[in-house]
Amino acid sequence: MGDPNVERTFIMIKPDGVHRGLVGKIIKRFESKGFKLVAMKFMWPSEQLLRQHYSDLSNNQFFPGFIKYMLSGPVVPMVWEGLDAVKTARFLLCAANRKDANPGTIRGDLCTQTEHSGPNVIHGADAVEAAEREIGLWFTEKELVTWTRTVDTWVYE
Ligand code: CDP
Ligand code: MG
Repeated sequence: MGDPNVERTFIMIKPDGVHRGLVGKIIKRFESKGFKLVAMKFMWPSEQLLRQHYSDLSNNQFFPGFIKYMLSGPVVPMVWEGLDAVKTARFLLCAANRKDANPGTIRGDLCTQTEHSGPNVIHGADAVEAAEREIGLWFTEKELVTWTRTVDTWVYE
């Protein structure tokens, strides 16, 4: 295990989040929490990239409809860095509890149809290894920006 302060996670605002104009609001959650932005893109992903990203879901019945939804507009893939970034981001999303996403969380506050194949505005990697794999799919090494925030002395001891 490396230094938890520099753990990186992969986050993606899904097409419904973009269509609904929630990009700024969602980014704000991560900024406010104290995470550091390392990479971000605005792009319309290829079907091939989405199939690679979600390869573990491909045998599910909902998969064709889900891919159609994911192809319905541009997305905002991002890399955020910070203390326990992967687990903490899953809490911010309310990913583990999709059925009753708690108010105060991103899904809990910003979408309603969180239970099944409905649009749920955001993706967050569910483990450190998954985050590394996903970051590698969406970004080149060069696109991951190395920088130091002057504010970090106020966020981390
Ligand atoms: O995104 P999260 O990790 O909370 O859920 P997941 O179980 O890893 O599923 C990934 C995504 O597939 C979900 O966010 C949904 O958008 C979609 N999904 C779906 O359309 N129908 C389901 N029955 C389950 C998941
Ligand atoms: Mg997942």
